[in-house]
Amino acid sequence: MKNQTVIVLDSGCQYNQTIARKIRDLRIYSEILPYSTPLEKIKELSPVAIILMGGTEKQSPMIDRQLFNLNIPILGIGYGARLIANLSGTAFSNEFVNQKIIFKDNPLFKGVDNTTLKISDCIKTLPQGFEVLANTESCSIAAFRSLEKRIYGTLFDIKSMPQGSLILRNFLYDIAGAKGSWSVKSFVQNMTQSLKAKIGDKRALCAFSGGVDSAVAATLVHNAVGDRLTCILVDHGLMRKDECEQIMKVFKDGLGMNLIKVDASDRFLQRLKGVKDPEQKRKIIGEEFIRVFEEEAKKLGKIDYLVQGTIYPDIVESGFGEASLVKSHHNVGGLPNVIDFEEIIEPLKDLFKDEVRKVGFELGLDESIVMRQPFPGPGLGIRIIGEITKEKLDILREADFIMREEIKLSSLDKEIWQYFAVLTDLRSVGVKKDKRTYDYTLGLRAVTSSDAMTADFARIPYEVLERISNRIVNEVKGINRIVYDITSKPPSTIEWE
Ligand code: XMP
Repeated sequence: MKNQTVIVLDSGCQYNQTIARKIRDLRIYSEILPYSTPLEKIKELSPVAIILMGGTEKQSPMIDRQLFNLNIPILGIGYGARLIANLSGTAFSNEFVNQKIIFKDNPLFKGVDNTTLKISDCIKTLPQGFEVLANTESCSIAAFRSLEKRIYGTLFDIKSMPQGSLILRNFLYDIAGAKGSWSVKSFVQNMTQSLKAKIGDKRALCAFSGGVDSAVAATLVHNAVGDRLTCILVDHGLMRKDECEQIMKVFKDGLGMNLIKVDASDRFLQRLKGVKDPEQKRKIIGEEFIRVFEEEAKKLGKIDYLVQGTIYPDIVESGFGEASLVKSHHNVGGLPNVIDFEEIIEPLKDLFKDEVRKVGFELGLDESIVMRQPFPGPGLGIRIIGEITKEKLDILREADFIMREEIKLSSLDKEIWQYFAVLTDLRSVGVKKDKRTYDYTLGLRAVTSSDAMTADFARIPYEVLERISNRIVNEVKGINRIVYDITSKPPSTIEWE
């Protein structure tokens, strides 16, 4: 059975993720599309409701007025409500003050208490066929509806209201008639069906990093089409200890996935020789990755689809955001430009990270994969300060392994977002077994975070730090000093490069 879908028309502000999230929490499938989506595509999806969200300071997207004639319930919030008023031929004025909002008795605000909120705009005259649903002392139209057209608008920000979810619930369930049948289980069932139907007897390819997103995306597709999916794991030699072997064991031996490991470590090391600049490293690793992948893909003959583990926050952060470049993130996003695929398949593109994890569990993947901490595309390459050499990689791999093992043994792994070791370019004097040493300093990094946009350094107990430190200096040759990074993001970043 097809899921009922709510379409959220979006101009790309982070805010909209919250609304999409709230809709998902109401067990209704929501799909976020740009305002530029053609009317035909919207009709095709036959949504149970449409939500019009905010514009940004720089963008005032428009919609096709015909949207109002589809007899699909529409809720405009903030900018979305202004757009409805605008297209219905009415003017509005700016307000920008906190005001008590008084709700009239109507289904949209059923059970919602009058509340004080900032409203950004106020409509001066009601569009024809509309009625007032809420007002404030100085704004007589703060929310409105056309019962006949099933169009609703609120000029205040539902997200910042304690009862915002109730308003959404009222709209989606009572006004639009949504049933609330979306769940991770139904997502997996429906996605498997639609992947089967789409790929059919054609072939798909996936760049497999072992990270949660690509692992879950690949498993979904593998379950749907089996050997019609080929996965390529590019071993750039910058993976953590035993990582590639574990990936092969779980996915190839365990799940029977058609997974090819390409050992390209020498190539990467060769290209990275003498390179110290972090951006330069990222660029080289990204480019080389694409090159290796492309070469391997060509060996496979005609491939029709490229599967990517893109998730919803990736789309917002890379596609819509105008944040200045802090680091050029490397993932497989650049691949489609170089290989001629019919289409890219992104089965997780509407999901948030925690939903992807739930899908992973639903598919039967092990906790060690589903709860894996984020690991950057350029791998250990950006955790070695200065030039990357085989010797340094071996030192870092061992040290990082010990740190991860001790964090796990202390049961801190669930509280900490990311924890890893960084090999600095600094050598200092030490003493071991009465002998002078002149070895590397290792940085330990552990942060708590909810989305990696900001992060705080983790308050790891001294005893745990002591154990990690003792073990590393005793067990790993080449390190004689260890420091713990106590900076947060910002002003630092999580990775050191
Ligand atoms: P920063 O260091 O910018 O990292 O605070 C934020 C999050 O992103 C991860 N990261 C990357 N992930 N490719 C990735 O796929 C990259 O190039 C990359 N650089 C950083 C980092 O591990 C953290 O989770």
